Amino acid sequence: MKAAVSSMQESSQQDHEFLNDVLRGLAGDQKTLPCKYLYDELGSQLFEKICDVDDYYLTRTEAKIFNQYLPDIAEEVGPGALLVEPGAGNCEKVEGLLHLLKSPSGYYPIDISPEILYLAGQRIKKGLPHISIWPEVGDFTQAEVWDNLSNIESKKRVVFFPGSTIGNFEPDRAEQLLETFAANLRAGDGLLIGTDLVKDSVVLERAYHDSEHITEQFNKNLLQRINSELGGNFDLSSFSHRAFYQPLRQRVEMHLVSLRDQRVAIAGEQIVFLEGETIHTENSHKYKVSSFNTLLMKGGFKPVRHWTDSSESYAIHYAQAI
Ligand code: AVJ
Repeated sequence: MKAAVSSMQESSQQDHEFLNDVLRGLAGDQKTLPCKYLYDELGSQLFEKICDVDDYYLTRTEAKIFNQYLPDIAEEVGPGALLVEPGAGNCEKVEGLLHLLKSPSGYYPIDISPEILYLAGQRIKKGLPHISIWPEVGDFTQAEVWDNLSNIESKKRVVFFPGSTIGNFEPDRAEQLLETFAANLRAGDGLLIGTDLVKDSVVLERAYHDSEHITEQFNKNLLQRINSELGGNFDLSSFSHRAFYQPLRQRVEMHLVSLRDQRVAIAGEQIVFLEGETIHTENSHKYKVSSFNTLLMKGGFKPVRHWTDSSESYAIHYAQAI
C-alpha cells in the first residue's frame, strides 16, 4: 500500500515536471521540447526500429566497428576494469566487450528505467555468471547515481558511452557531462565513447528523415504523449516532421512544423501556432575526430586513440582521465 502511494506521488510529480517543461518550452520565441521526452515506452520502441532502418547508418556502423576491433578495444581497456554505462537501457552493446575483457571487476549500468535494468541484468548473468553487476536507477546527469562507485573495488573504472548519445547535448552541456564522468574517475581511468562524424548533408538528412517514416512517427509521438499524459489536443495531421543539417553548428535538428495557423490547448493553456512555425525537438551533433578530441580535453580527458569504419562515418574513441 505504502509503495503504491509513493509510486503514485512519484508519477504525479513526474507529470508535473513534464507539464512544466512542455509549457515552458512552448512559451518561447522558438518553441522547443526537451528531447528526453521522446523516449517513453513507445518512443523507445520506435527508436529501436530506427536503429534497423537502412537510412539510419549510425547503429550498424558502430556495431561494425565494435565487431571488427573488439580484441583491440578490450586490450586498450585493459585487465580488471569496472565498466560503467550511463543510460545503459537494455545493456546490449556492452555484452561483447564484457566477454572479451580480461578479468573484469564488474558492470555498473545506470538507467532511469528499473524494469529494463532488471531484465538486462538477468540476461547478462546468464551469459556471464561470474560478473558482478551493480545496477543504479536514475538520471546519469545527476551526481547521486555515481556515488556508489566509491564502494566498489576496481583496478580501473571505464565509462562506456556508445550510441552517439553525447551528440544530443549542446557543446557546453556535452563538456559538463564529460566533466561529470571525469569527476567520478581517477587519473588513468578510461572513457570509451561513440560519436557520429561530420559527413555529406544528404546522407545525414536521410538518416533523420528516413524513407520508412519511422523517425517521423518517433518525432510525432511526442505530441501524442502530450495529448494522452497531459490532456493536450494536438491534431497530429496538422504537423509535419522536418530534419535538416545545420553546417555552422554541425548538427542535425529535428522539428515539428505547424501546417496551418492553429491553437492547441494543454492543461487549460492555449498555445498559438502560426503556419510554418516549428517546435524544435532534438539536436544530434556531429564531430570531426579533431573537434571531438578538443572537447575531450576540455572535459578533463586525454584522447588516446580512436577506431573508425572504412568510410570514416562514425568513430569510437578511447580517452584517459587526467
Ligand atoms: C539516440 C541520440 C543517438 O541522435 O541519432 C535518432 C536519436 N533521433 N533519430 C540520434 C535519434 C532521431 C539518436 N541518438
